[in-house]
Amino acid sequence: MKVLVVHGPNLDRLGRREPEVYGRDTLADIDARLVALGAALGAEVISFQSNWEGALIDRVHAAADEGVRGVVINPGGLTHTSVALRDALLAVAIPFVEVHLSNVHAREPFRRHSYFSDVAVGVVCGFGAQSYELGLRGLLGCAAPRAPVAE
Ligand code: DQA
Repeated sequence: MKVLVVHGPNLDRLGRREPEVYGRDTLADIDARLVALGAALGAEVISFQSNWEGALIDRVHAAADEGVRGVVINPGGLTHTSVALRDALLAVAIPFVEVHLSNVHAREPFRRHSYFSDVAVGVVCGFGAQSYELGLRGLLGCAAPRAPVAE
């Protein structure tokens, strides 16, 4: 099973960006752990980061043509604004898990609303970089009983 991990705007700055909120792991650290975890769980993990909404949408569209069966996505700030990225995920009908490093519910009120949560398989937030690993585990575990996802 092929899984795409999508990182939204500003996540390329992880490690240096507000470390008291997002921790000190870099995106490369996180991606490397996800590749290893995916391999241990029988999944091929590929990842993509962009600061551009349209590039993220194009990558989600391409995933459908590449046989990607599940997505782990941290939409970053687009979580709270992007109908278009939500629509892209719905358009390709690939099950996805929404993840956030920080606990978005314990921060500014505008971070409490997500355009993704109600259509996600599940949501993980507040565990730092581990949120991604928990999200991948959840996606793969949850995917198992669903035939189209498990193949
Ligand atoms: C974030 C939370 C968002 O509110 C914020 O805009 C981000 C990162 C997180 O991982 O905690 O860029 O998605």
